[in-house]
Amino acid sequence: MVTIADVKNVQTSWNSIKDKWETDHGLNFYTTLFDDVPEIKSAFVKAGNKTDYQVKGQAVRFGRMVTEWIDNLDNEEALVAKINGMCATHRTRGITNVDLFEVALGELVKYIAGKTSFTKAQRESWAVVNGCIIQTMRNYF
Ligand code: HEM
Repeated sequence: MVTIADVKNVQTSWNSIKDKWETDHGLNFYTTLFDDVPEIKSAFVKAGNKTDYQVKGQAVRFGRMVTEWIDNLDNEEALVAKINGMCATHRTRGITNVDLFEVALGELVKYIAGKTSFTKAQRESWAVVNGCIIQTMRNYF
């Protein structure tokens, strides 16, 4: 169960890097993500993303989606609708392996932890929140 404290912990840590996501962090995150998870990289290459400019565009879209989720952690109906919407667009591309989404969110936590003074409580809250997001995806797929 996601508590009010979890919502606050996740929002605080995401908000602390969000403002520089589109200028700095987004492309850095995707570069690391692609290095760590070749299967995710190949899905993007297959979709035509070859240049940093293109990947940065994807990072911006990813960041905006994450922001929408995090802003709505206390609004279950809206959150589920947004997650399901993302699942639907990915399913049209044949991307339905929830394990890969789980890995991507784990990489995001790792990235944020490396850029902020992540507290133990924040780390634990991300685990709870990501668990709920992933469960919503499993229900969808
Ligand atoms: C929490 C995890 C993820 C989030 C928030 C996310 C979000 C998004 C968003 C917002 C878009 C653009 C809108 C759209 O066309 O759907 C997108 C596109 C895409 N995503 Fe994801 N995604 C995630 C995970 C993944 C994973 C795990 C893969 C691959 C295995 C993937 C592959 C793609 C591809 C190939 C595109 C299209 C790229 C293009 O059109 O050039 N995504 N994603």
